[in-house]
Amino acid sequence: MSKKQFDCDGFEIVPSKRNSKNKQTKIPSKDSKFSEQDTFINIDKTIKRINSAVDDLRASNYLEHFLKSVSTVLSSRKLEAIVCFGLGHIGECNISRYQLALLLCLRDSFECHKVLVHDPVFYKTECSVLKQLGFDVIPENSEGGYVISKQHVTLVYFPHCPKQLTNNFLWSNWSTDLEHCILICNSFTSMIENHPERILKETVPYICKINPYASEITLENNFIYTDIFNDTSIHHFPKENLKNTESEFWSKGDKPTYENTEEFITALMVEKCEHGIYNVKACSCNLTAITVRDPEAKLNEKASGKSNGQTTDQQLCKAIDEMHFKAKSYYDYLHHSRRYKEINVEFKGKGERSVSETARMVGFKLPHDPKP
Ligand SMILES: C[S@@+](CC[C@H](N)C(=O)[O-])C[C@H]1O[C@@H](n2cnc3c(N)ncnc32)[C@H](O)[C@@H]1O
Repeated sequence: MSKKQFDCDGFEIVPSKRNSKNKQTKIPSKDSKFSEQDTFINIDKTIKRINSAVDDLRASNYLEHFLKSVSTVLSSRKLEAIVCFGLGHIGECNISRYQLALLLCLRDSFECHKVLVHDPVFYKTECSVLKQLGFDVIPENSEGGYVISKQHVTLVYFPHCPKQLTNNFLWSNWSTDLEHCILICNSFTSMIENHPERILKETVPYICKINPYASEITLENNFIYTDIFNDTSIHHFPKENLKNTESEFWSKGDKPTYENTEEFITALMVEKCEHGIYNVKACSCNLTAITVRDPEAKLNEKASGKSNGQTTDQQLCKAIDEMHFKAKSYYDYLHHSRRYKEINVEFKGKGERSVSETARMVGFKLPHDPKP
């Protein structure tokens, strides 16, 4: 009989019945994290690029219309805070940098000094950039939950974010206090036009319920780069609209849960990665045979400070990690296809060069060039 094998935490490694070769696979290590990864970005260069994005935005009609619209919604009210979830990688992605530039312009125009940001994918150095710009980086993933002020206005910005974030945000403020909120996110109107009503009612019920009482300002997408603010609208919930609701309208259930979300990163996904709940030690290529620590047991151990040394017969298969891989793959796909576009715009040749341009480029003179 073969000797039992144990991992460094004392859990027995259960060999696969289908394939006993126990080849190592390329499953991400338990150190992989969504947040605060150590990918290096050059802070000074990033800040320079952000400043240049601010300059471009300041020179645009888009910003002028945007600020005018926000100012109209605010009327004489004070903007107390700006909250932004889902900026993405500001160190690597132009789209994220321009969206960040919008935050800076909003902060300056409305003299609002409380700006909070969160994205589970931020690198440590990106958090440093945001802090240098005077923003507060929210450390934990509240999944879009943020309770707004009851006195003054909070502007909430979810740039191109999964609709689950917006639904959770509405759930966490589900009352007539929503009159104190300006919500900038993917257009409710286009979401409702482009998805079957039944599906939306099941998946994002709070967006569906509030939509008839929302006012949406659609801005012309006339910024120089059309993939930064596309499909983005300003939504607000005027008092006079909300007063037409019955009190039962505001009763709410438990925090929404979602199935098959692709871009939405839950707190549990982050926690699983950060606590290294999956102890990947040995596994075959197809069916994995790995000891898996039960998430609850791991959290209990963490609280008690002791390991209970249990062996589980759970096998790590695709399903248990599926959400994490799906969300990460989807994000990477979007991110890298946008980077590809950016690089193309910046470096691709501008079409065929004329004979004289080509000659000049390589230092030749054409016969009819004047002699020096
Ligand atoms: C489609 S990307 C948009 C990124 C960027 N704003 C853009 O327009 O390219 C969606 C973003 O939402 C973020 N996200 C997903 N779940 C989140 C959560 N629970 N809290 C905050 N941001 C989240 C993702 O990390 C990602 O950066």
